[in-house]
Amino acid sequence: MNNEKVNAAIQQYKHIFDSHFKIFHEFLRIPSVSTAEIHREDVVKAADFLVEQLKQLKFKNVKAYPTKRHPIVFGEYLVSSKKPTLLIYGHYDVQPPDPIDQWNSPPFEPQIKGDHLYARGVSDNKGQIWATLSALRAVLQTGDLLFNVKVLYEGEEEIGSPSLDDFLESHQSILACDCILNPDAGMLAPNKPTVTYALRGMAYFELRISGPKADLHSGLFGGVIGNPANILCELIAKMHDENRHITLPGFYDSVRKISEKEKNELDKLGLGVDFYKKNTNVPALQGEVGFSPVEQVSTRPTLDVNGLYSGYIQEGAKTIIPSYAMAKISTRLVPDQDPDAVHQSILKFLEENVPDAVTWELKYLSGAPAYLSEPDGPWFESYLAALRQTWGDEPMIKREGGSIPVATAMKKYLGVDSILTGFGLPDDQIHSPNERLHLPTHKKGVEALIRFFLNP
Ligand code: BES
Ligand code: MN
Repeated sequence: MNNEKVNAAIQQYKHIFDSHFKIFHEFLRIPSVSTAEIHREDVVKAADFLVEQLKQLKFKNVKAYPTKRHPIVFGEYLVSSKKPTLLIYGHYDVQPPDPIDQWNSPPFEPQIKGDHLYARGVSDNKGQIWATLSALRAVLQTGDLLFNVKVLYEGEEEIGSPSLDDFLESHQSILACDCILNPDAGMLAPNKPTVTYALRGMAYFELRISGPKADLHSGLFGGVIGNPANILCELIAKMHDENRHITLPGFYDSVRKISEKEKNELDKLGLGVDFYKKNTNVPALQGEVGFSPVEQVSTRPTLDVNGLYSGYIQEGAKTIIPSYAMAKISTRLVPDQDPDAVHQSILKFLEENVPDAVTWELKYLSGAPAYLSEPDGPWFESYLAALRQTWGDEPMIKREGGSIPVATAMKKYLGVDSILTGFGLPDDQIHSPNERLHLPTHKKGVEALIRFFLNP
């Protein structure tokens, strides 16, 4: 154990916290919304900000690599070719802040209220990048690293990481590593440090149903012309049956069942009806019949409408038959579903079910398979020990419903599993208005990372 070194680094972290917290605010002020074209320059700014941070930490070969869309930042701090290498991942892009009018303070002007810091991206994922940088800084200012560290920050995570596969494939040698730390997966509660061993995958679509060449008077034409909005709703309704099973042809063919043993372990996580009601304020849950909430959210695939648009949506009434209707539809996938097969299956469903009265177009926006790892090995054990020492409690090992396509891609191109973790909480409101970071948990996370970096 390196207790003295650990204590010195933790003291240093506390000592420099305030001055560096201001720099963190600068990072949060950059609206690095990857999906919005008008923020292209801001995304570059966020990448440059990280390049600067790494240079200050004396990382070498620091560079923002251009891609078709947003840059990938890489840097390395090599202590010895005889030592193993940890690759740390993070994403500096954020979700759009919409609906903006529901924020209590502007999304890109960070504000502290009580124990929380509020800003878009503060938990997902800038705060987690900040946690790893803070721990590295504290360790490097009080001594040296015990293993080599490389970092990779991407700016396209929230849009499905379209450039990442190419980058990983063509940069395998500089990215070579023995373990990957991915702090994009969060924890279950402030007193429950967590490691995730499985993520769901995704296939994301945009469906457009087109009818008349322009919006029509619904009195003159209603009853004779197919209404794209009605038809889109019928199609969406048909995508589930009465037990909320998905009806796309062959959708479940390759879904892997979980063992009784794994099911029993998942049951112990406390992710029951109360957990979901408490975190969402809904009057009741609604999921696939025959599965418990924790199974539904982590081991079963889903299909959700993420956005819906048609016709007149401003104040008051307007009598029209809309000329088109659009839905954003995402499916969350589990092992061993193939996103491309899901694409084929939704195409087949549409070919069989769209009525002649309209035409349709399906865009396939992104696809990534699920991720599943064996949570074991020395790095994993050392990380668990760091969590245990910091929280004084046994870490939780969970399966996650969210998706982090990079974990699967890194396994494929670098041959290395990821420690999926992080210090975000279920009530951080990620992707929602008023995203926030619980500062006491964030600080504990930094302490845990310091212990991990100093006790390999
Ligand atoms: N950090 C999240 C995923 C996450 C959140 C995992 C909480 C575990 C716990 C990540 O930034 C995210 O939102 N990913 C997207 C990926 C998609 C765009 C392919 C997601 O899950 O919607
Ligand atoms: Mn996210």
